[in-house]
Amino acid sequence: METLRAQRLRAENLDDPLGIDVERPRLGWIVDCGRRGAAQSAYRVLVATRPELLDEEKGDLWDSGVVTSAATQQVEYAGKKLVSEQRAYWKVRAWDELGHEGPWSGTGCWSMGLLSRDEWRGVWIGSKKDVKPTKEKPKPNVYLRKGFGARAGVRRATVYATALGLYRLWLNGERVGKDVFSPEWTDYHVRVQYQTYDVTDRLREGDNAVGVLLGQGWYSGYIGMFGFQKYGMDPAFLLQFNIEYEDGSRDCVTTDGSWTASLGPVVSSDLQMGETIDARLGMPGWNAPGFADTAWTPADVMYDYRGWIVAQMSRPIRETGERTPYSLRWTPDGRVLIDFGQNLAGWLRASIKGEAGTRITFRFGEALDASGVLYTDNLRFARQTDVYVCRGGDGEVFEPTFTYHGFRYVELSGDGPFELGETAAVVVHSELPETGELETSHPLVNRLIENVRWTQRANFMSVPTDCPQRDERHGWTGDGQIFSGTAAYFMDVSAFYAKWLVDLEDAQRPTGAYTDFAPFIFGPKTEFDNDFTYTHTASAGWADAPLIVAWLLYETYGDRRVLRKHYASMKRWVEFNRALFPDGIRDDVSQYGDWLSVNERPFEERIAEFGRMVSHYSTTPYDIFSTAYMAYSAKLMSDIAAALGEEEDRRTYGERFEHIRTAFIDRFVDGEGQIKGDTQTAYAMALELDLLPERLREAAVSRLVGKIRELGDMATTGFLGTKFLMDALVREGHADLAFRLLLREEYPSWLYSVRQGATTIWERWDGWTEERGFQDPGMNSLCHYAFGSVGEWLFRNVGGIGREGAEAGFGALLIRPRPLGGLTFARCRYDGVSGPAATEWRIANGEFLLNVEVPANATALVYVPSVEGTEVLEGDTPARLAEGISEVGREDGCAVFRIGSGKYSFVSLLPV
Ligand code: BGC
Repeated sequence: METLRAQRLRAENLDDPLGIDVERPRLGWIVDCGRRGAAQSAYRVLVATRPELLDEEKGDLWDSGVVTSAATQQVEYAGKKLVSEQRAYWKVRAWDELGHEGPWSGTGCWSMGLLSRDEWRGVWIGSKKDVKPTKEKPKPNVYLRKGFGARAGVRRATVYATALGLYRLWLNGERVGKDVFSPEWTDYHVRVQYQTYDVTDRLREGDNAVGVLLGQGWYSGYIGMFGFQKYGMDPAFLLQFNIEYEDGSRDCVTTDGSWTASLGPVVSSDLQMGETIDARLGMPGWNAPGFADTAWTPADVMYDYRGWIVAQMSRPIRETGERTPYSLRWTPDGRVLIDFGQNLAGWLRASIKGEAGTRITFRFGEALDASGVLYTDNLRFARQTDVYVCRGGDGEVFEPTFTYHGFRYVELSGDGPFELGETAAVVVHSELPETGELETSHPLVNRLIENVRWTQRANFMSVPTDCPQRDERHGWTGDGQIFSGTAAYFMDVSAFYAKWLVDLEDAQRPTGAYTDFAPFIFGPKTEFDNDFTYTHTASAGWADAPLIVAWLLYETYGDRRVLRKHYASMKRWVEFNRALFPDGIRDDVSQYGDWLSVNERPFEERIAEFGRMVSHYSTTPYDIFSTAYMAYSAKLMSDIAAALGEEEDRRTYGERFEHIRTAFIDRFVDGEGQIKGDTQTAYAMALELDLLPERLREAAVSRLVGKIRELGDMATTGFLGTKFLMDALVREGHADLAFRLLLREEYPSWLYSVRQGATTIWERWDGWTEERGFQDPGMNSLCHYAFGSVGEWLFRNVGGIGREGAEAGFGALLIRPRPLGGLTFARCRYDGVSGPAATEWRIANGEFLLNVEVPANATALVYVPSVEGTEVLEGDTPARLAEGISEVGREDGCAVFRIGSGKYSFVSLLPV
């Protein structure tokens, strides 16, 4: 009999992480078994200091014993106290539902980082440069190096490193790790992350050398809309090299005043402005032993850092792929224009040949203008321009280190002749496991799905950003929360969002107000809007993000700890709202509202109607929108309290929700179910957030449907309203209309941009139109994921893989594909915390065929569309339903089945 194989071992949602700093890491695995109905009834975890002990079935750190439980995730380590630098090796075995013992898993591991501050023995070093950065000339990068000796018999060598700025590290001439943009972005006023690398195999007996390239990054480089040096003036670097010998002795190499510093070929870099490399300044061997650093100067010892130094507990930014040119052409004036065929974030790598001193300029853009020239107007203040000065001779390769660009096209020009060899667009982003795939019979929908995926890739850069190209690239919270559900289908976002929640809490104001982006930056905008003193906090739908994202992590991954960690903080936000708006109506102005919605009526008309309660970009009045979100947060707070067993808070916030709901109805809803503002978003939000009296729901639904139909099946919703709209239509029995919106090809619609050749999601429905060309370059990103929030809807309704109500963590699946809109086929895969689930359906000859794969230890409720009174059969050669499948009833034209894990196929007759 096939038993359960435990696999995909993770600690803190990471694969064999090094240098973590939680005292009781949570362990997780999946169980695999082809047998139907296979489920875990018990597990045993062993954690040991050495892998050999595991072979002897000894867990000297922890032996959980046989625990009767179906849990495969969020299993808290409960062994001996873990100390700094400790290594832990672990394995697990599972028992199935019949009590059969499965084999031991392979070995997983993690190591602990430096758990207390006084273990950091070095000082921060750098090289102070008293120059003002400009757009054309960011501050120079600094090279640092240190030679040191090591004895024979190294048992273990570990590097802990971080920077205020960005660093890249080499040991004995070889790069350490593959991470880029370390230590990534946090609010450096509060915390900076360190990274841990095991370099045991790299250390040599005798002379060794560490080399570091230190750049400005988010710390002292340009931050969109705010300017340079928002956290500090000069970057600083901190490193600790702990060497442990076989004989038990230890050495420690740290950053101190004995390191030397120099300028070098990677002259200057800025994440948004670009990088300049002068290859003539190359210093071969600078990061290896034996280099004569006589021309280098002593490094400056910098101020000590007074924030937290914490372990990076999320997956690093890496190069994740490459694309070769789709087309490349030389223009008559000697420029090269490369089209990579895909809008993305990253950089260019190019083999170049030119005479020494030839200066080549690389400009990056998302589009071409009408005359076929690179379009960069929409970059605003960001330059995203790189420069390479040739060394002369063969084998030159341009590739930057500390910058990234949002681009599909690159334009190269030289101040002298040059030859171009191989080129590639290097794709760069937080390297999260991709978990979702969806393909349908509709080519444009397929392109839309890929556009969402690419937009997520381009914007998951340590922080979920709004866009990767213009001078912004902020962790905008409205965009972040509305897209989070979609993001969680495409990638494993467990650790990524857990890190962002820390940023969000770090950004929270003492009042309890969350901010409109995180990490937060203080002060007025500098480059434009100088007279505008808006504080970027507490905007409805934006500042509610922490609760929405924390709840998503709980629902998707069963992560209860994240709820606990931010519980007090989330309460402060809800309490802040209550203090400001005790009567349950939120009507303060200066909101984003349903940002970038389609103007159903002229602005002037709306002003006259609503007075000041109107935004250029939100057709829906602020008060409706803000009050609805305030209710949403109160409800979430009540749910979060319930999940944590905080009974009193559950009640308090439940009552607060009811209070807001009543106020909403009294103030905004008339006796016919018409809502103030009368916009699609107003109805969709009120329906989805349960803000209408039961008796008026139907009237509101028909108003909503009427409004869409009257415009020729067109949505007018913006950034946040769109997701509510699509969900509301399905829930209220108008899935067919939702499909018409999905498949609409004229402006405004998703497929409109696809038809215009978009390869990522546009910020605006009309980013480009035939009549006008590009939208206002002041705000027209072609890579903004907010409208991509339809991805989640596609997975649930087209792929048909969702989660069944109450249970957190995808243990109970809801399989409900909807074969509507003329689609005849879909194939979907979602690799969640229980392992991969899959569906595939097709329509042929009036028959509906559905294959379902449910991972072991999970169950599914399956909705099979079928004609009432006809029988649903099972199997490729249809037979009666197998045992173990129970029909639990009929609902909305579907037969409903409850199944356990395993592979199933259903065949039904569709209504004609
Ligand atoms: C950003 C957004 C953001 C918005 C706030 C824009 O400039 O790009 O996506 O949410 O400002 O309304």
